[in-house]
Amino acid sequence: MQENPLAAGLGLPREPPPLSLVIFGASGDLTRRKLIPALFSLHMKGSAARMLITGFARRDWTTETFRARVRAMLDAEDAPAAPAAEKDAFAARVQFVRSSFEDREGYAALGAIAPDCPNRLFYLATPPDAYQSIAEHIREAGLSDQSRGYSRIIVEKPLGRDLASARALNESFASGFPEHQIYRIDHYLGKETVQNIMLLRFGNEIFEPVWNNRYVDHVQITMAETIGVEARGRYYEGAGALRDMIQNHMLQLLSLVAMEPPVDLDPDSVRDEKVKVLKSIKPIRADGVAAETVRAQYAAGIAEGTEVPGYRQEPDVAPDSSTETYAALRVSLDSWRWAGVPFLLRTGKRLSRRATEISVHFKRPPLNLFGGRARFSAQPNVLVLRIQPREGITLGFNAKIPGYASDMRTVAMDFAYGSAFAEDLPEAYERLLLDAMVGDSTLFMRKDEVDSAWQFVTGILEGWAEEGAAALSFYGAGSSGPEEASRLLASEERRWRRL
Ligand code: BG6
Repeated sequence: MQENPLAAGLGLPREPPPLSLVIFGASGDLTRRKLIPALFSLHMKGSAARMLITGFARRDWTTETFRARVRAMLDAEDAPAAPAAEKDAFAARVQFVRSSFEDREGYAALGAIAPDCPNRLFYLATPPDAYQSIAEHIREAGLSDQSRGYSRIIVEKPLGRDLASARALNESFASGFPEHQIYRIDHYLGKETVQNIMLLRFGNEIFEPVWNNRYVDHVQITMAETIGVEARGRYYEGAGALRDMIQNHMLQLLSLVAMEPPVDLDPDSVRDEKVKVLKSIKPIRADGVAAETVRAQYAAGIAEGTEVPGYRQEPDVAPDSSTETYAALRVSLDSWRWAGVPFLLRTGKRLSRRATEISVHFKRPPLNLFGGRARFSAQPNVLVLRIQPREGITLGFNAKIPGYASDMRTVAMDFAYGSAFAEDLPEAYERLLLDAMVGDSTLFMRKDEVDSAWQFVTGILEGWAEEGAAALSFYGAGSSGPEEASRLLASEERRWRRL
C-alpha cells in the first residue's frame, strides 16, 4: 500500500514494557465501550504484544465467557473494521478472574496469573466506593510493590461530590499508593484536539503575543450535547452538569487555554502551570451565584426530529428533580494575563447541536476609518478551536467585499484535521492507556488539580443550595439552552456563539 504523505510524523510509536493489565469492573459499560476497543486498537498497532489483560469482576463468568464477550465487543456495530483473525487473536489473550472486590483469594489469583511480570497496571473501572477496598487489597497482596518494575492504578471520575468528599476519597485509596503511582483520568485530556491547545499556543509565534487581556475581550468554552441523560439517571441525579462536566472537563480546558508556558513538557511542569490557573479563579460563593451562574433543566421538546421527554420524565429521575442539566458560568481569573477577561463556560444536555469548542474573541478594532456600514457588518476576530466534532481550527477575520465600496464582511480561514492529516484521530482512551503503560502522567490529573477544581465548584454548589430550587430555569429539549444564559455576557456587544 502507498504511504500516506500527509500522515508523516503522526503516531510515533511508544512501546510499553511487558505488563499485566487488570481491569476491575470488567463486566461494566466502560470496559465494553472504551477500554476493550482502545486495547484492541493498541493490539492492531503492535503496542500490546507484551501485555496480559485480565478482567476482574463479580459476574459469574469464566475466561471462556469473557473471551466470547470481548469478541462480541469487537464485532459491535460501531467498532472499527478489522480482520476476524486479529479479533480472535486478541480475544484469545484475555483472562478472567471471578471475585468480589473484597475477597483476598481473588487478589491472590491475580498474583498467580503473571508471577514474573515486573509491571502491573490496575484499571479501576468500578464505582468510586470500591476504590479504597481494591487499593488496599492490591497492596496487601503485595501487588503494589515496585522493586522489580512498576505498579500503577488508574481511576476515573466521579472523584467525590464536593471538596470534602473528594479529599476523603483521595485519602482513602491513596494511602497505599504514592501520588506518582496514581493516574486520574479525564478523558478529555486524551483527545487529540485538546492536546493541540498547548501546541497551538506555544508552537507558533503568532498567537502568544495576543493571548492576553490587552487583545482578548472574552473566551467562550462550550460543551453542548444532543443526547439526554440516557440510562444514567441514577448517577446524574446526584451529579448534575456542574459536577459532571464543569468540575473536570471544562476546568481542564480552561486551564490549558489560560496557562502560562511551562518551562518543560514533563508532567509536573505542565501540571504546575495548570494548577496555577485553577488557583487564580475568583471564587463564586452564595453572594455571587445569582450574577455569575445560570442553571437549567431540559423540558420535553424535539431533539433531532424526534419528540423526547423532559429530564423529570427520564428513568430513575425524581418527578420534581432540581438537578441541572445545563450550567453556564462567568469565570474570572485573578492574574496579570487575564484580569478583566471573562471566561464564559456553558454545558448542557439535549441541546440543538453537539459541539465542544473554545472560542477566543478578540477586541473590536476602531473601524471608523471604513465608514458607518463597515462598523456594523464587521465582527471582531474570533479564533475557534473545534474540539469535536469537525475537529479543527477556524479564524474569523474581516475582508473587503469585492466592489467599489469599502464594505467588509467576516470570512474564515479554516483548518480541518480530516483534510490536513488524512488520518483518523486516535481515541482518547487509547492514548491515555498507552501513556499510563509507559509512565507519562502529563495527561492525567494531579491531586492538587482535582482539589482546586473542587474548591471552586463547591463554592457554587453551596451557593445554589442556599438559593434553592426556585432559581432553576428550564429549556426545551433540542433548543440552544435557557434565555437566562445571555445575562452572563454582561455586554451588548457579546453574543454566545450560535449552537
Ligand atoms: C462524561 C460525562 O464525562 O463525558 C457524560 O459523564 C458526557 O455525561 C461525556 O456525556 C461527554 O464525553 P464525550 O467524549 O462524548 O464528549
